[in-house]
Amino acid sequence: MPTLNWIGKDKIVNHHNDVPFKVLEKKYTFGDDTENMIIHGDNLEALKALLPKYENSIKCIYIDPPYNTGNEHWVYNDNVNDPHIQKWLHDTFHESGITVDDLTRHDKWLCMMYPRLVLLQKLLSNDGAIFISIDDNEQANLKLMCDEIFGQSNFIGELIWKKKQGGGNDSNNVVVEHEYIISYSKSFSSFRLGLDENYQLDDKLYPLSDEKGQYGLITLDKASIQFSQSLVFEIETPSGEKLLPRIVKGKQSCWRWSKEKVQKQYNELVFKNGKVYTKYYRPKGITQRSLLIDAVYGRTETGNDDIKAIFGTKPFDYPKPVSLIKHFISIASDKDAIILDSFAGSGTTAHAVLNLNKTDGGNRKFILVEMCDYAENITAERVRRVINGYGEKEGTGGGFSFYELGTEIFDSKTGLLNNNADTEKIREYVWFAETHTPFCAPKSTNNYLLGTYGRADYYFYYEKNEETTLDWDFLQTITQKADQYIIYADRCLLSDSEMQQLNIVFKKIPRDIKKI
Ligand SMILES: C[S@@+](CC[C@H](N)C(=O)[O-])C[C@H]1O[C@@H](n2cnc3c(N)ncnc32)[C@H](O)[C@@H]1O
Repeated sequence: MPTLNWIGKDKIVNHHNDVPFKVLEKKYTFGDDTENMIIHGDNLEALKALLPKYENSIKCIYIDPPYNTGNEHWVYNDNVNDPHIQKWLHDTFHESGITVDDLTRHDKWLCMMYPRLVLLQKLLSNDGAIFISIDDNEQANLKLMCDEIFGQSNFIGELIWKKKQGGGNDSNNVVVEHEYIISYSKSFSSFRLGLDENYQLDDKLYPLSDEKGQYGLITLDKASIQFSQSLVFEIETPSGEKLLPRIVKGKQSCWRWSKEKVQKQYNELVFKNGKVYTKYYRPKGITQRSLLIDAVYGRTETGNDDIKAIFGTKPFDYPKPVSLIKHFISIASDKDAIILDSFAGSGTTAHAVLNLNKTDGGNRKFILVEMCDYAENITAERVRRVINGYGEKEGTGGGFSFYELGTEIFDSKTGLLNNNADTEKIREYVWFAETHTPFCAPKSTNNYLLGTYGRADYYFYYEKNEETTLDWDFLQTITQKADQYIIYADRCLLSDSEMQQLNIVFKKIPRDIKKI
């Protein structure tokens, strides 16, 4: 498989491992207490912070990263000269002998995207899919990079979204009226894209209707199919008339159905004007087509109108239409799915999730990440207004919690467990480091139990401000039986033979906690 190379790639391919695990600090909850999250911060750290709980759990990811157009005059920088990203590039490369000035804007963009896509791939569930909006500036690079990260065989398709019509006659040679949406699954064999229910079918094709829905008629005899004498036989109409396949332009046609099928499904035949027909029903949806036309999925203006209707003004440049993102969510997830957008911008993805839930009674959850300071007054504010209603629009209901990136789980200077980190987050991390599965707090009378994995029970006997000791007193508190016990504590007073006999593995806090 051809691979893409660029300056800085060597330094970046494993960079996701060096990103510190940070705690997500909840600042407030708005509306109902749901699992919906809006996280303010760089998505590299936010995605890493989500791993312990959400690895392999996200059904649908939609991202709309900066396209690297070079435009710096929007509310966000649409290139890699954003001060946050410049600082991140500088910090990441400063010891490598490469200076940020050695990188072209394409190198920088690829370095920025690579580790973030690696983490997104880890978060995706086995039956999940990612959709990435992009334009000509980076489309070719992104495709090759995704082949490497997601695997060529997991490529779902490249959709073309017609985003505008008209104007542009002053463009050089070609007026670009489209963007791309590149889509990959985590595991192609476990993934199935849903039907496109928005596709505009031609109503003229389904002029009739019965209790099963709208339908059209198609003659049972066809001159165009492979002729077979066994498909030429008489069919008797309910009024006793006997019909044969017609002779069309001097050529004998034959029935599409065998004699047996006609006998078995006689009730499905329609007799009209001396001809035999079958019904074809209007389908609920069709297999996704690669062209997404603006009349159905919205265009750039639609995204602007969506946000203007909420704020009265347009506080954000080029938000995507709600209808477009809604479409990706509906073809790639079920009603309980978690939807992630780590380049959230004005929060269109949350808007789409809340709208869809309202329409079909679903319980989808969203996780948004936005680095810029408008995460609160544009992203979160838009979601609040969608929940409560705006203008004439009734609210969708629901709620979300707003988070900031907090302390690191490991102190970056000492490398030891950070005492200031939230204990529940440390428990999440320890469980994830041990099992690589998402943490789900167990129902137990023993507060130190993390859970059962395989045939072992994991205990994290940790207190922020005091040393803990694995001894007989602690063992008395364990009532749940397991084949093996993995117990973290500060000290251990049990002998090796006692531990062997009771199948206990002692792990010292914090030295023995694996850094992932
Ligand atoms: C093209 S906009 C997304 C627009 C969005 N789809 C909408 O409809 O409003 C890209 C967003 O990603 C944000 N962004 C860029 N780099 C980021 C990073 N490293 N972490 C989090 N957000 C980032 C930018 O601040 C910007 O708001």
